[in-house]
Amino acid sequence: MPRQAGPDERHMQQVTLNLAEETAEDWWEVEALYDLCFAPGRSALSSYRLREGVAPIAPLCLTAKDGDGILAGAVRNWPVRVGGAVSILLGPIAVHPTRQGEGVASLLMQRCLDLARSQNWERIMLVGDAPYYGKFGFEKLQGVAMPPPTNPDRVLGLALRPGAWDGVTGDVTSMQD
Ligand SMILES: CC(C)(COP(=O)(O)OP(=O)(O)OC[C@H]1O[C@@H](n2cnc3c(N)ncnc32)[C@H](O)[C@@H]1OP(=O)(O)O)[C@@H](O)C(=O)NCCC(=O)NCCS
Repeated sequence: MPRQAGPDERHMQQVTLNLAEETAEDWWEVEALYDLCFAPGRSALSSYRLREGVAPIAPLCLTAKDGDGILAGAVRNWPVRVGGAVSILLGPIAVHPTRQGEGVASLLMQRCLDLARSQNWERIMLVGDAPYYGKFGFEKLQGVAMPPPTNPDRVLGLALRPGAWDGVTGDVTSMQD
């Protein structure tokens, strides 16, 4: 008969998360998580146009799974151009509604930023809420324009090496353009 987990083990299961690079087998589960967490029609967002036909940055696409292998959260990243400079476009990032508020997104964000730095990426940007992403050091980017319709107040960036956003302005375009 299977042994029942004691209270401590149950607690540990709740807090244990494994962060790993997304695999091909994870793809549809991550897609399902994004469908659950974002409004219908998410792929019509301007950020998706920038990702079309461009390979994601595989080492920066991460899953967070619990001890049973159940997906709690995920993040993907793509390269884009800003003027002549290359940047990471972070996202989508999402956490399953039953796991929100436990710090899962913070773990994924922090791991992404650490990996991006260690892989010598210079700058990273995203479209999101400044009060949330400010916690990780993201600030409104001046003179950087996402394809419309994007609220400029939500276009945020972080320099992965000091000064990396200095003088970097212009339209955000696909690596394919
Ligand atoms: C946004 C999201 C990824 C955060 O995931 P999470 O694992 O719950 O985040 P964390 O546990 O690391 O942080 C939670 C904290 O951030 C706050 N927070 C979450 N979303 C926020 C937002 N949009 N603006 C400001 N604060 C926010 C929470 O209130 C909470 O605050 P507290 O720690 O003071 O209680 C998750 O809520 C989600 O998947 N939402 C739906 C998809 C989405 O909006 N993705 C982001 C697109 S830009």
